[in-house]
Amino acid sequence: MAGLFDSYTLKDITLRNRIMVAPMCQYMAQNGVPNDWHSVHYASLARGGSGLVVVEATAVSPEGRITPGCLGLWNDEQAAAFAPIVESIRKAGAVPGIQIAHAGRKASANVPWEGDDHIPENDPRSWQTIAPSPVAFGANLPRVPHEMTLDDIARVKADFVKAAERARDAGFQWLMLHFAHGYLAQSFFSAHSNQRTDQYGGSADNRARFLIETLEAVKTVWPDNLPLSARFGVIEFDGRDEETFRDSISLLQKLRASGLDFLDVSIGFSTPEAKIPWGPAFMGPWARRVGEETGLPVSTSWYISEGRQADALIRTGGLEMVSIGRPLLANPHWPYAAARAVHNKEAPALLPKSYGWWLARYQ
Ligand code: FNR
Repeated sequence: MAGLFDSYTLKDITLRNRIMVAPMCQYMAQNGVPNDWHSVHYASLARGGSGLVVVEATAVSPEGRITPGCLGLWNDEQAAAFAPIVESIRKAGAVPGIQIAHAGRKASANVPWEGDDHIPENDPRSWQTIAPSPVAFGANLPRVPHEMTLDDIARVKADFVKAAERARDAGFQWLMLHFAHGYLAQSFFSAHSNQRTDQYGGSADNRARFLIETLEAVKTVWPDNLPLSARFGVIEFDGRDEETFRDSISLLQKLRASGLDFLDVSIGFSTPEAKIPWGPAFMGPWARRVGEETGLPVSTSWYISEGRQADALIRTGGLEMVSIGRPLLANPHWPYAAARAVHNKEAPALLPKSYGWWLARYQ
């Protein structure tokens, strides 16, 4: 039975352990171009010992950014700036992954520490948001998006394909499609945000169409030997969870048949009314069910902060990987601490020799 520190192989990629750095927006880019902040941040995380480093939500088009500080992959300047970051992740022994995204009706927002709300429409930094239907998220994101035309839908799918090509060419070896958290793809799937009456709205099959077509389009350019993954919110915690979950399973079965290799199980975040039962590893049982009912290898995140808890989720919780966020912001060497917690004698070897040699010597 595999544990947290056993390797994991998917297609031609082998991760040194089952720890994924969850994608986490840094809001530190200008015009979507990575800079020295991102270079240091991602190299530190890779040096900290995680198996897979997934670069934050990276927009496929300017209007797909959550905030003006988000990364992008819609031009060659951005792609060129990613290449050395990819190299530094690989040099540190981790596999470089990236999440590509379109924020839909949650786009054009201020960075979290400047309000986390929509930038006012009369502010020159704001831009027009788009979504399946002209329905605002609400709460701090009240702007009503433009309803996407069929041409808009085709364009955004093409943007995902172009971003995937650029990610491939920059050297990324693991692609994650952002189909979660109330952003564009999730908002096609969710009845909270999709009120279309054409082939992209109405029935669960129609609401799934944008996600399936996007995956299929990306698959035509993403190498067959590299993992093609997604993050998707399987439930909303809106009181209709079993119904939504059933529809999610049916979507995921189709995505799997269309070439999805791995799923990071998350939350829909499609309505501010959700009552989310935050607590230690609370998404674990949902992720296990997704794995059992779809046959997809799965991971999940949210409040997995202890090494022993993470190890148990891999050994007996039905997960192939854990996706760690804030604990890695607090300590990029969290994998070392987790290895110590499960009495793994190889803990110092997770770190570069300049750190690990000393830690092994004085252990
Ligand atoms: C996030 N999260 C997130 N999720 C995602 O799919 N793409 C992203 O770019 C981001 N950005 C982001 C930024 C920051 C600063 C945080 C803290 C979170 C969610 C993240 O990947 C993770 O799921 C959550 O943080 C929950 O895991 P932890 O923090 O409890 O381990």
